[in-house]
Amino acid sequence: MGTNEENPLGSNGSTAAGSSEGGAEQEAGHLPVMKDEVIVTLAPHSGSLQIDATLGGAGHAERILEASSPDGRLLGLDADPAAVVRGSRRLARFGDRAVLRQCNFRELEEVAPAAGFGQVDGLFLDLGLSSYQLGDVERGFGFRTGGRLDMRFDTSRGVPAADLLATMEAGELAALFRRYGEEPFAGRIARTIVERRPQSPVETAEELAALVEKAVPTPKGRRTHPATRVFQALRIAVNDELGSLEAGLAASLVLLRPGGRLVVLSYHSLEDRIVKRFIAGEQRGCVCPVEVPICVCGHKPRMRSLGKSQTPSAAEIHANPRSRSARLRGAERVAA
Ligand SMILES: C[S@@+](CC[C@H](N)C(=O)[O-])C[C@H]1O[C@@H](n2cnc3c(N)ncnc32)[C@H](O)[C@@H]1O
Repeated sequence: MGTNEENPLGSNGSTAAGSSEGGAEQEAGHLPVMKDEVIVTLAPHSGSLQIDATLGGAGHAERILEASSPDGRLLGLDADPAAVVRGSRRLARFGDRAVLRQCNFRELEEVAPAAGFGQVDGLFLDLGLSSYQLGDVERGFGFRTGGRLDMRFDTSRGVPAADLLATMEAGELAALFRRYGEEPFAGRIARTIVERRPQSPVETAEELAALVEKAVPTPKGRRTHPATRVFQALRIAVNDELGSLEAGLAASLVLLRPGGRLVVLSYHSLEDRIVKRFIAGEQRGCVCPVEVPICVCGHKPRMRSLGKSQTPSAAEIHANPRSRSARLRGAERVAA
């Protein structure tokens, strides 16, 4: 599967080269993944209205604004308030061409029209987390961070990962690890967490990584940390990432004008499957069962796929190894 198997830090693969432990990564910032392919597929042009619903380090947003000079406008969103602050600094030179809001993109259908982006030419989603989040020791995204295991993109909402580990039954935890991490040792890891809970509950990312390392066998030659899948699963659950993705994709049908483009970068198979199915489903016309002779469903295509999925070039993977799990898909809204 295309999950974070290849990504030893449990991140989405879209981060800058470096490790989650060092200031080096923070200094390097976040390298926008497949930036040329994103611009070609999104095709922003002067005068266009674009939404970057996952601002992160604002690298893609900056390129979208450059490509839509002199008067294209961009609405940039992020659930993480720190990303919005960072983005507003990076995009300051574009003046009122860049409008930024802190929100979850599952609220896109309400937030975008309220910000003057009711009908847009492009919607871009670059899923997962940024290098800044991964490198922030207080947030618990990286294996070796000693701060509390939080993992929320928006720390003002929801339940931190440490609280899930402290309260869920072993069976529920195992199901979570299986569902969102496809973790083969889900049951064993969940039992270990619950059994040691009364004496020493798992509070930090470091403790969780060490616990998983002890609980599961490590096959020879394994290139990734044994806790990769567990970290991925927790992060997806804490942020309801798949539910947000479904809502964000649904919003594209409402917000994109005919000819407007949806571009999504995903980093593991659970996300990519949702994007792929969404585009395929919206591309279909009639969905009546084959035995029905005349269409009764009235379903019309609402999207047109922009071709096969794309992956990063060998040169990009070399320069930014964590980009290697990226997969880009694009679709164009078609008139009803
Ligand atoms: C991979 S980074 C984006 C990087 C960005 N494209 C760049 O060039 O720097 C993903 C960002 O999306 C944000 N994010 C993830 N899920 C979100 C959601 N449902 N709503 C809003 N922001 C989200 C994360 O907080 C993170 O900052």
